[in-house]
Amino acid sequence: MLRLRVFALLIAAAVLGPIGRVNSHEESGDWHCDSGSGIRVQAQFKPGIITVDGIVDDWKDVGGSDFPLLPALDPDADKEYSAGKMTLKAVHDGKEAYFMLQVNGNYAYTQGDSSKCPSVALMFQIGENASYHRMGGCEQGPDTCTNKTCHGHEVDIMHFSLGNAIPGRLYGGNPIDNREGYGGDRFGHLVDVYAWNPHCRFLDGMGPSGNDTTAQNDWQGSWWHSSLTDHSGFIKDDSPYASEGQKGAYYFEFSRPLRTMDRLQQDAQFTIGKSSKLSAAFWYPVDGKPWHGSAHYSISCDWILLDFISGGSEPIKVAQGSPWDAATAFSLLFSVVAFCMAIFIGSGSELKISSLCQGIMARIKPQALLQQSKKKKGPSRISIATFVIYGLIIVVMAFFLFASYRHWTRRSNFQAEDMLSGVEHDNSFGEPTKVDVPKYAVINTSKGSITVELYKEGSPEVVDEFIVSCQKGRFKGMLFNRVIKNFVIQGGDVNRPGTTEDWTSRGKHYNQLDTSLKHEAFMLGTSKVKPDGGGFDLFITTAPIPDLTEKINVFGRVIKGEDIVQEIEEVDTDEHYRPKAPIGITEVTLKQKL
Ligand SMILES: *[C@@H]1O[C@H](CO)[C@@H](O)[C@H](O)[C@H]1NC(C)=O
Ligand SMILES: *[C@@H]1O[C@H](CO)[C@@H](O)[C@H](O)[C@H]1NC(C)=O
Ligand SMILES: *[C@@H]1O[C@H](CO)[C@@H](O)[C@H](O)[C@H]1NC(C)=O
Ligand SMILES: *[C@@H]1O[C@H](CO)[C@@H](O)[C@H](O)[C@H]1NC(C)=O
Repeated sequence: MLRLRVFALLIAAAVLGPIGRVNSHEESGDWHCDSGSGIRVQAQFKPGIITVDGIVDDWKDVGGSDFPLLPALDPDADKEYSAGKMTLKAVHDGKEAYFMLQVNGNYAYTQGDSSKCPSVALMFQIGENASYHRMGGCEQGPDTCTNKTCHGHEVDIMHFSLGNAIPGRLYGGNPIDNREGYGGDRFGHLVDVYAWNPHCRFLDGMGPSGNDTTAQNDWQGSWWHSSLTDHSGFIKDDSPYASEGQKGAYYFEFSRPLRTMDRLQQDAQFTIGKSSKLSAAFWYPVDGKPWHGSAHYSISCDWILLDFISGGSEPIKVAQGSPWDAATAFSLLFSVVAFCMAIFIGSGSELKISSLCQGIMARIKPQALLQQSKKKKGPSRISIATFVIYGLIIVVMAFFLFASYRHWTRRSNFQAEDMLSGVEHDNSFGEPTKVDVPKYAVINTSKGSITVELYKEGSPEVVDEFIVSCQKGRFKGMLFNRVIKNFVIQGGDVNRPGTTEDWTSRGKHYNQLDTSLKHEAFMLGTSKVKPDGGGFDLFITTAPIPDLTEKINVFGRVIKGEDIVQEIEEVDTDEHYRPKAPIGITEVTLKQKL
């Protein structure tokens, strides 16, 4: 409830904020933007609910923020986009971030001409000194901007324009669209771009100082308009798909991995439990007139904070909201109210306390006050001071009792919840499996614990070997000896050939049509080539790695503790990718159920 209310407040702030703060036309010379810091968009952890297909029913339980759309280069409230505000929603599932943008707008679509269709873009801050205004704000010209002269001004942009994009179809979602060193999709309408200023903008993987193959188009997207009816997913290629000018709303859906393979500051990297900065822009052919590049609306004149809420912290918050806590809080409040009533109704001798209480009473709704005063009529004739002191002692004692009791109940709640979520995981698996093979392993590290699901079906021998190693306690004290940001963390023996060395020079042998399903982040694997003396090393990927299964035997995936993996990934390392402060595995526990 409290969270809902806070969220409603945030939405209100978001709605009121930009209008209230953007001054009207005065500053035609210097750019001026007073942006509130209170505006935040929250990406909650909600796995498995979103499909990127332009149909937004799957977003109905996700809270959003509404923003007025003002001309980006002339943020005058009188020139606000007249058909309505933009609703922005975001969630993540521990691997991917999902965004939904909804704008009212009569149907406008001209095939092959993007400027006569609506268009949207998302921009994210990468460099710490990158401004939203002027796409990073680097003070260099097109000939002098490089990744050195503009260091710190990097922004990441996703732009989706509709000219040839069929409604309801997924763009950017196949290996051809996502080929290395090319930030655009096959149709050129869903592009992954980075910039330092409006003149220095490049497709991911390309730039003034060379083409780099680790960057690519990491986005997937789809669009829809509410006046369209046929959502077969295979609409005929004729246009327009509905008649011009029909009332309705445009929907845009996008997804992107939280982490990408980019290591040249071309992609923003999202961290669970932390905030990123974003803004959104919208182009619309007002009165059928084509728009041009800089004539877009924007939801804010400055960055908006985007919080990636940790899934792990959800149950804690739920537990805090349990009836027990409400009861504790209520009884405490009731005690204070009763205490105040006693003084309030009694004589005015305790002036100081009395005025404090009046303050408290004034904040309680009149009806509540009335009810309370009915119950508490006619205080006894015992000295009020004595009454108050004894009352206070009892209240404090009761509160301590409640607090310790709550501590215990919450502990058991927790265990119960964990059991429940384990059962859910089991159900989602569906197929009956042998009871005696552990399905999960909890890897305790000095940073926290990581829960992995084991792919017994896919890699039985490797899982068996892993289980035997666990039972022999071989992982106790194993160190993460190689930590490569946006790539992989590796525990175990790294001082032998064939492990990470050739990974870091990857790209050469990359087969661009590799359709391996397991090139995702947070996969668990071990080296294919084992050293003579045996040994079992562990890899956890932190970004999608296209040729993953060529490198390692994947035998599981992280299902809880992604944030711990990211925490390990963030530590300082030396030039051999070895963490400066050792991080070790304390214990690996096998589990049949969670
Ligand atoms: C950002 O600006 C500050 C102050 O001008 C500077 O000290 C810092 O080095 C800059 N950061 C980057 C990454 O360039
Ligand atoms: C700049 O780009 C070049 C080529 O893409 C790359 O080799 C170099 O490491 C980059 N420098 C920085 C500071 O990112
Ligand atoms: C990068 O690739 C693009 C497209 O293939 C090409 O036009 C450009 O010249 C390349 N840039 C460099 C510096 O190699
Ligand atoms: C592993 O970590 C979890 C939570 O961090 C803790 O409850 C558990 O006792 C730990 N297990 C071992 C064997 O250290």
